[in-house]
Amino acid sequence: MKKVVVLTGAGISAESGLKTFRDSNGLWEEHRIEDVASPEGWYRNKELVLDFYNQRRKQLLACNPNRAHFALAELEQMYDVSIITQNVDNLHEAGGSTHVVHLHGELLKARSTEYEELIYDWQKDMVIGDTCERGAQLRPHIVWFGEAVPKMDEAIPLVRQADIFIVIGTSMVVYPAAGLINYTSYETPKWLIDPNDMPLPRIPNLKFINEKATVGVDYLVKLLLQE
Ligand code: APR
Repeated sequence: MKKVVVLTGAGISAESGLKTFRDSNGLWEEHRIEDVASPEGWYRNKELVLDFYNQRRKQLLACNPNRAHFALAELEQMYDVSIITQNVDNLHEAGGSTHVVHLHGELLKARSTEYEELIYDWQKDMVIGDTCERGAQLRPHIVWFGEAVPKMDEAIPLVRQADIFIVIGTSMVVYPAAGLINYTSYETPKWLIDPNDMPLPRIPNLKFINEKATVGVDYLVKLLLQE
């Protein structure tokens, strides 16, 4: 089976009702990103950060995958598909995709502030006093700005092996994720799907589908399933 590797960003979940980041003037749901998505913000005001992610979790639980998420799951009928997502939502899994690497963490998980390997499924609100089994405070399992992105170690080899590489709904400005496309090989066909005009990376064999995810991904998946 040919390997398809897909890099997704906030744009693929926009039509499910989740706002993208850079369309909101540097704010994330009316909050400054540095207040709610950085270690400094956490040390300054843990309640604010917990409350923010409690709201994000509730919002996510009311959302459903859209046609783009479902189409990527359908691609598994004929391809070995790996999805590398910058999104912290679970909409790829809810849409049926079976191999998803979450570069920036997962909203529906909690992790220990002391023992990084202690990670738990988490759907309810999180409060000060919620602790891991070894007694340390829990925090959202999210990679904040300034933190390491350990899943890059999993993502880079996947991209290197890609026979087809697809990028959907990301402004490609946040590193290291944005640099993943540079690990594709010269001859690998690459597709970029985004409804807005954007500076295209100077990469060989790249085609731009200038459409929203629901339209563009549906089109591309149909095309790939016909091959
Ligand atoms: N379908 C596809 N793409 C869309 C749609 C849509 N319906 N609507 C908007 N987009 C595109 C925008 O044109 C933009 O290129 O999605 C992209 C969203 O870009 P960002 O808001 O920058 O999101 P993303 O690239 O995922 O951000 C990367 O930055 O804030 C951090 O950690 C956070 O994972 C996030 C990272």
